[in-house]
Amino acid sequence: MTTTNIPSYALDLFTDEAIVEPYEHYRVLRDMGPVVWLERHQMYAVPRYAEARAVLGDDAVFRSGNAVAMTDAVNAAMQGGTIASDGDVHAHLRRVVAGGLTPRALRPIRETVEARAAELSSHVVGLGSFDAVTDLAQALPLSIVPDFVGLPMNRRGRLLEWASANFDAMGPANERCVASLPKVTEMTDFAAEIVNAGDVLPGTLAERVLQAAERGEITEHQTVRLMLAYVAPSLDTTISAIGSAIYLFAQNPEQWQILREDPSLVPAAVNEIVRFETPIRALGRRAATDVDISGASLNAGDHLLILYASANRDERQWDRPDSFDVTRNAAGQLGFGYGAHSCGGQGLARIEIESLLLALTQRVSRFVLTGEPVRAVNNAIRAFRSVPVRIETNTTNETKGSRGK
Ligand code: HEM
Repeated sequence: MTTTNIPSYALDLFTDEAIVEPYEHYRVLRDMGPVVWLERHQMYAVPRYAEARAVLGDDAVFRSGNAVAMTDAVNAAMQGGTIASDGDVHAHLRRVVAGGLTPRALRPIRETVEARAAELSSHVVGLGSFDAVTDLAQALPLSIVPDFVGLPMNRRGRLLEWASANFDAMGPANERCVASLPKVTEMTDFAAEIVNAGDVLPGTLAERVLQAAERGEITEHQTVRLMLAYVAPSLDTTISAIGSAIYLFAQNPEQWQILREDPSLVPAAVNEIVRFETPIRALGRRAATDVDISGASLNAGDHLLILYASANRDERQWDRPDSFDVTRNAAGQLGFGYGAHSCGGQGLARIEIESLLLALTQRVSRFVLTGEPVRAVNNAIRAFRSVPVRIETNTTNETKGSRGK
């Protein structure tokens, strides 16, 4: 039900076309108002930066339980997990999940990630032409995250398929969502099996979760859901950001040059990548009480879709929001969320993306697209299926330079 002071938007935000090109839809929504009723999805959108941040920051009023996904069925299935819990239960679960992901806990892994990033960088320099999605964006997280989380070696074959299905399931009840559900069930069964069998690698995040269960700190159901908190959001998100990064640097070679000349900008560049091509486009919240958002009156129980990807392009917040600029201070971007539920794994994601960009700045002078990139179409994740590129290296340039003399 719409309240009279809230404008209404008739178009579907989850057609293939709208998923591939969402930004014009978002601009229209932002211009319509701080809160817009989505007729096709029967929930409200929060498309502007200020209100999106305020809603995410007020987790007492805007709750995640029964709210993060767009359908009731998926929200019901997510109960018991960090992302779908509220208040004291959330704080407790988050301590268990995020305890192994603090900057201090991550310190030992930085070296491993940097070494792997250097290897990958040499590998693609050797290849010359490659696919930035499979050869870089997937290769780095896949070779780091399952080991770090502690998943059994022989059970990793379907992680990417499951991760993508998990994000399709967050969307409206469209074909993509329905098709994802059997895979989400398989992923959940996988998590239940490794919990039941205690089949995780020693000294890892997964083992910490099992130990919390043994101490009676979390129920068996919560243990499975917390295991999923590592399996489901830890790959596709980072893969999205790395794929977008290579595409953006191929499209904006002067930005790559700026980064090469001043690699201290790499952490800022990661914020700008996540701002510009926000990996998780949107997730939901539900109002716990009647509440007013910048003049829009909502009722208790109303369901809201927080458009992180729109907030990150809001012209009310950002100067030249549609320009990719690594010198911009994009630290306030909402791509990792904000507030109590902000991304528990962003430290790890940042280490991965920063290490890879740093390694590449040392060798690659330019990325050149060699074909048409192909977008992946997913209900929640903005990503590429393929980004064919060729790289020019310092040596290529030197050769070219000497030829030109
Ligand atoms: C570029 C990479 C990533 C992006 C863009 C990203 C994005 C996000 C966002 C937007 C949220 C907030 C959800 C909400 O508002 O309800 C979130 C939460 C979360 N993320 Fe990430 N994520 C990334 C990488 C990771 C990784 C590598 C892990 C695990 C190792 C991870 C684990 C989590 C967890 C456990 C939560 C739930 C936190 C809570 O509810 O308290 N994420 N992430």
